Amino acid sequence: MTEPLLEVRGVSKYFGSAIAVADISLQVRAGEVTCVLGDNGAGKSTLIKILSGVFPPDAGTLLIDGSPVSLAGPREARTHGIATVFQDLATVPLMSLWRNFFLGQEPVRGRGPMRRLDIAKARGITRDEMRKMGIDVRDPDQTVGTLSGGERQAMAIARAVYFGARVLILDEPTSALGVRQSGIVLRYIVQARELGKAVIFITHNPHHAYPVGDQFYLLKRGRLMASARKAETTVEGLTEMMAGGAELKELSDELLAMTSGPAASVTAEVARELAAEAPATQAPLPQSETTDMSSLRSRSGNARRSARCPHRAR
Ligand SMILES: Nc1ncnc2c1ncn2[C@@H]1O[C@H](COP(=O)(O)OP(=O)(O)O)[C@@H](O)[C@H]1O
Ligand SMILES: [Mg+2]
Repeated sequence: MTEPLLEVRGVSKYFGSAIAVADISLQVRAGEVTCVLGDNGAGKSTLIKILSGVFPPDAGTLLIDGSPVSLAGPREARTHGIATVFQDLATVPLMSLWRNFFLGQEPVRGRGPMRRLDIAKARGITRDEMRKMGIDVRDPDQTVGTLSGGERQAMAIARAVYFGARVLILDEPTSALGVRQSGIVLRYIVQARELGKAVIFITHNPHHAYPVGDQFYLLKRGRLMASARKAETTVEGLTEMMAGGAELKELSDELLAMTSGPAASVTAEVARELAAEAPATQAPLPQSETTDMSSLRSRSGNARRSARCPHRAR
């Protein structure tokens, strides 16, 4: 495997007394899609803000090309080739496509007092770069508001690639999109990887992560709960980790204990469903250390089989 382009070692970030990211270490490589999975509040955005220079970690080290660095801000991160596409701030809807594409980095013509924007060039580059991403722009003067959500994300990706990003960080680029639009964005993620970029893909959807990801990290309440290479896990394995089999079991038990009174039958029904989903014998996940997803997969796989055939398990 290649050397990591970007790495964090033992980083933590506090907001007052609340810990948003706790002692996380992970590595990001060129030509790979690194997926960071986790539910809302897991610390995903906080982690990528550390990686993109929005704020420094309260503890731990950030390394670029193997050397420890402290970034003064996102601008300095960009000079290292780290570009972040934020979910809502990626583009300005009322501005033209080419203005959005360049946003303050427009090509210029002439010198001194004759210096002016080279609008024709900007339009041409926008059209070409968007075409490379598979979007046919008829008129670069049309506003970004006329693009679909998926195309807007794609445009932000095309822009980052054009301006020389080596690391592309995408914070939940598919979470507000439908199935087809998500598919478009996932295709661009793969394209960026084929160009040799290191892509960091943040999502809470294992079905989006698994097909495109090479390396998976799962965050839960600020901690790194598991990591796996693609060959070590499956989409089911990722889903189960996300759902937290042990927690489902706990909830099911709690509901079963409540099965008296008028709502009893409904509660019992829900409890049964939860129990069927939760691996029956899965031990609680260790809090302190990272779990290897491959071992969890086989463990919970056995558990599920025994849950379905209790007589055989005994
Ligand atoms: N600027 C902030 N001030 C205070 N708490 C924050 C701030 N940003 C995030 N948090 C808290 O840190 C935790 C992790 O948040 P976040 O990184 O946004 O999670 P995710 O992106 O996985 O949903 C949450 O409990 C959140 O409320
Ligand atoms: Mg977030």
